[in-house]
Amino acid sequence: VPAARDRLRIAIQKSGRLSDPARALLASCGLSWRESRDRLFCYGETLPVDLLLVRDDDIPGLLADGVCDYGIVGRNVLDEQAALRAGEGRAQVSKEVRALGFGGCRLDIAVPEAWEWEGPQQLQGRRIATSYPGLLAKWLAEHEVEASVVMLSGSVEIAPRLGQADLICDLVSSGGTLLANQLKPVATIMRSEAVLAGPVQPFADIRGELAQMLLRRLDGVLRLKD
Ligand code: PRP
Ligand code: ZN
Ligand code: MG
Repeated sequence: VPAARDRLRIAIQKSGRLSDPARALLASCGLSWRESRDRLFCYGETLPVDLLLVRDDDIPGLLADGVCDYGIVGRNVLDEQAALRAGEGRAQVSKEVRALGFGGCRLDIAVPEAWEWEGPQQLQGRRIATSYPGLLAKWLAEHEVEASVVMLSGSVEIAPRLGQADLICDLVSSGGTLLANQLKPVATIMRSEAVLAGPVQPFADIRGELAQMLLRRLDGVLRLKD
């Protein structure tokens, strides 16, 4: 049983595509923090809601450990953790609470430009570099393809040129990175955007009320945006 707390803690990306929009969204919900750009912990002023600035990939783990109550993270990162947990037969501890409408991208299979794409069966026996082994394994199983997965936590797009893999499975936003590495997208595994991730179990302390208020404000802000 996680320790009771009387403040809400939200994890957001420290630096990257989601950091500024995540902070701006929470600010538009009426939150403010005693700031210091290089502080990793921002103490909530207007409300007892604190921020933790971390690497996006660490957010699902912080939620699972109960260190944070909510997180703003790409659906791809959240679903990857869910796929890994499911693969190990472990219960889910976090879920997508709201889609936030920014940070849109796709998790795509991308192959060297020279390939003529014939479909997933073409990947049989190939080596695929990715940072998303859980989501990729699920997709490969659905298409009854056996391939070897090369796990890389960054610079995935360079793996084919280095001879480390035949193709990749990575996030595509503008498509610029693929183009620069002579790769082309051929299949989409999932569509992603920033989401608010939260606990599967309800809070047993004052955080329940704080969370309700935060979600009410967030819904108001999201309604105004579309
Ligand atoms: C993603 C992805 C690609 C790049 C694609 O990484 O891994 O490298 O963006 O974007 P593009 O299609 O606009 O070129 P990102 O830097 O967002 O995050 P990461 O550091 O967590 O991998
Ligand atoms: Zn990342
Ligand atoms: Mg990247």
